Amino acid sequence: MQPDIIVTAPLPPFLYDPLKVSFRCHDYHQAADKAALLAAEGEKIRGLVQGGGTISPIDLLDRLPKLEIISVFGVGYDGVPVAYCKKRGLKVTHTPDVLTDDVADVALGLILMTGRGFVRSNRFVHAGEWEKRGPELTIKLSGRRVGILGLGRIGKAIAQRVAAMGMKVAYTGRKPQDVPYEYVRDLKTLAAAVDFLVVACPGGDATRNIVNAEVLAALGKKGTLINIARGSIVDEPALVAALEAGTIKGAGLDVFADEPHIPAALMKMDQVVLLPHVGSATRETRQAMGDLCRANLDVWFADKKVLTLIPELR
Ligand code: 8YV
Repeated sequence: MQPDIIVTAPLPPFLYDPLKVSFRCHDYHQAADKAALLAAEGEKIRGLVQGGGTISPIDLLDRLPKLEIISVFGVGYDGVPVAYCKKRGLKVTHTPDVLTDDVADVALGLILMTGRGFVRSNRFVHAGEWEKRGPELTIKLSGRRVGILGLGRIGKAIAQRVAAMGMKVAYTGRKPQDVPYEYVRDLKTLAAAVDFLVVACPGGDATRNIVNAEVLAALGKKGTLINIARGSIVDEPALVAALEAGTIKGAGLDVFADEPHIPAALMKMDQVVLLPHVGSATRETRQAMGDLCRANLDVWFADKKVLTLIPELR
């Protein structure tokens, strides 16, 4: 008997197709009548697959009494109610490590695109403006300061990249680590000291809106905000207000509070570079994430083991 799995996010075919071979998959994400799907199949469901940003509400999980495991297709699991899962004895797995380099590359790209004005320059050339005048001067990046909020796997990979460019790295997080970068206890103090504030910490309730109006005021006119983590970490209306008032210099954003919806004001801003959450979006990495997401389910249903349990449940 193949175990029943519920799928609550759109999955790429290279993950979904093999899943359908090993499991009876129920596509909750696509289902026109979700209540009917739960009524008919809820009692049988033993596994759940979701994306990094997908929210698994408790009232949905309550309808799955036989659920054993949630396998997240992504490193971030801020959409999973972890305390609830712990209480119910559910396993929760995610896909760390395999996407670290790609996400760090995007952070570096956003620093280059905002700092050196590459997106603006590209628009300038495409519009035929170079025929009429020379390009604007931008800023030298080597020697400038990068502040990293959250020096985990991805934060460290970002630090390595910008350090290689001769930028100076400082960071904040729960505690100082044994790394050759300056630790700053307080986020506001870090923001005040840097040219680029890079958000690289997990999302969820503990970090909701911690990059608020005060932090942005500290970042100031010299500062650019880069976010490759989660939109929820930044107070988005406060960010729009700071950009509109010119109290920060610019922003490079790969993630937003309500994806794929982006505040209309941001769309019009020349000092802002916007990406459609592409941190892990390379063929190689998405394949590796898909393989790991599926492997966690395979080993669970074969041997009651998992490969990459989230830290809170270890
Ligand atoms: C993915 C992500 O876009 O890993 C994460 O936490 O946000 C991204 O890598 C997402 O998980 C795909 O569902």
